[in-house]
Amino acid sequence: MFKKTVLILLCLPFFASSQQVTEYPNDYLSPAFHAGRRAALRELMPKGSVAILFAAQVRNRSNDVDFDYSQNRNFYYLTGLTEPNAMLVLFKEPATLLGKTGTEFIFVEPRNPQREMWTGKILGAEGVMERLKFENVFTNDKFQYNTIDFSKTDSVFTGLYAENILSKYYGRNGMDPLSKMASLVDSALVQNKKPNAYNRLSGMLRGLRSIKQPEEITLIEKAVSISTQGHNDVMRAAKPGMTEYQAQAIMEYHFKKNGSEYPGYPSINGSGENTCILHYETNQRLTKDGDLLLSDCAAEYHGYSADVTRTIPVNGKFSPEQKMIYELVLAAQDSAFLQCKAGNNSSDPHRAAVRVITEGLKKLGIISTDQEVRTYFPHGTSHGLGLDVHDPNPMKLQPGAVFTVEPGIYIPPGSKCDQKWWNIGVRIEDDILITETGYKNLSAGSPRTVAEIEKMMKQKSIFK
Ligand code: GLY
Ligand code: MN
Repeated sequence: MFKKTVLILLCLPFFASSQQVTEYPNDYLSPAFHAGRRAALRELMPKGSVAILFAAQVRNRSNDVDFDYSQNRNFYYLTGLTEPNAMLVLFKEPATLLGKTGTEFIFVEPRNPQREMWTGKILGAEGVMERLKFENVFTNDKFQYNTIDFSKTDSVFTGLYAENILSKYYGRNGMDPLSKMASLVDSALVQNKKPNAYNRLSGMLRGLRSIKQPEEITLIEKAVSISTQGHNDVMRAAKPGMTEYQAQAIMEYHFKKNGSEYPGYPSINGSGENTCILHYETNQRLTKDGDLLLSDCAAEYHGYSADVTRTIPVNGKFSPEQKMIYELVLAAQDSAFLQCKAGNNSSDPHRAAVRVITEGLKKLGIISTDQEVRTYFPHGTSHGLGLDVHDPNPMKLQPGAVFTVEPGIYIPPGSKCDQKWWNIGVRIEDDILITETGYKNLSAGSPRTVAEIEKMMKQKSIFK
């Protein structure tokens, strides 16, 4: 009896925690989310129109190795499908295709046990019905020249040309199924003299994607939280003699450890003069005492990317010049944050940041005219964030908008200012959500101020 009680007590924590643990992740966007986005798009489409969207192509890396597959973001937003060789057809009004009537049709890759033994299981038509809750699902081999009767539609929206679907590599076995469907659609459009208004479709999707739904915000928050853990551990582990790629390894270790499938974009870890290269991605240099290290790295989680930058002194203490530039960028960021509220223009944070940096650089004697600020702060302050690391941002900020605030100052060697400023590149980048009452800094979990960063750099890391 006693033994049994002990056993039950010992097992309790295991069972308690195992309730949340599933064999595979189960926190993806729901079928209802994707169905809602399709409904929202159809709402915007004009009478008599049809939108035809294609999955992304498989891209060959070399010989028989392909690049990691990355689904077309609009296609994913509307379907949840992460497989290639698929096509989504959305009608404004019900239509009949291959004997089925409805407004939504999807053509997907058929299952093939021999192929799946090499490259893994796919959903196939049944899986798409069951898991993604589409009603009208066909395998892609069923699509023919006359499957869509374009004579009955007034306007057609497809990304055939804009997204390069028709001008790509055909794969080792000739034309792939996606290209076959795309060429059939293309010939039918030409035959029916239907102009293709892709820009309108792209505009509608940009509008929808610029305001995030609650399910999307949950995934972005997760991606951001994973990213700040990586940044914090790079702060703890950094020391002169660490290479840039070792900083990248620590960062990406935290991404993978926490279930991020990929970095949201190639990790940028520039030290010394490389802090002044905005998208430095080679990460090969050995850091030395007195260097800054600029890390612009973030995780992607279930398709949603974070985008976080921190700049730290590798020896744990900012030099007086580094501190002056750092605090100027920080003041610009704080001033930009004050502009993050519903109703403002999305360019207002940038305007505020430019004002602070211009005045600050003049005061430090680094520039003498307003125009020169572009020399040292050559990029924008904000971009939307979501399925793409550079996602659509609404013109007017409103609740649900998620975007970066990332001012920077970069002074490469040889700049026309006192040499004491050379090799100082600083960017501070946080991810902001506009709320009903103001904004939330989603990346506040990583320190931004000089004192907080220096304090965190004194902590232990398993990598130090
Ligand atoms: N994180 C890279 C960029 O925003 O361009
Ligand atoms: Mn960015």
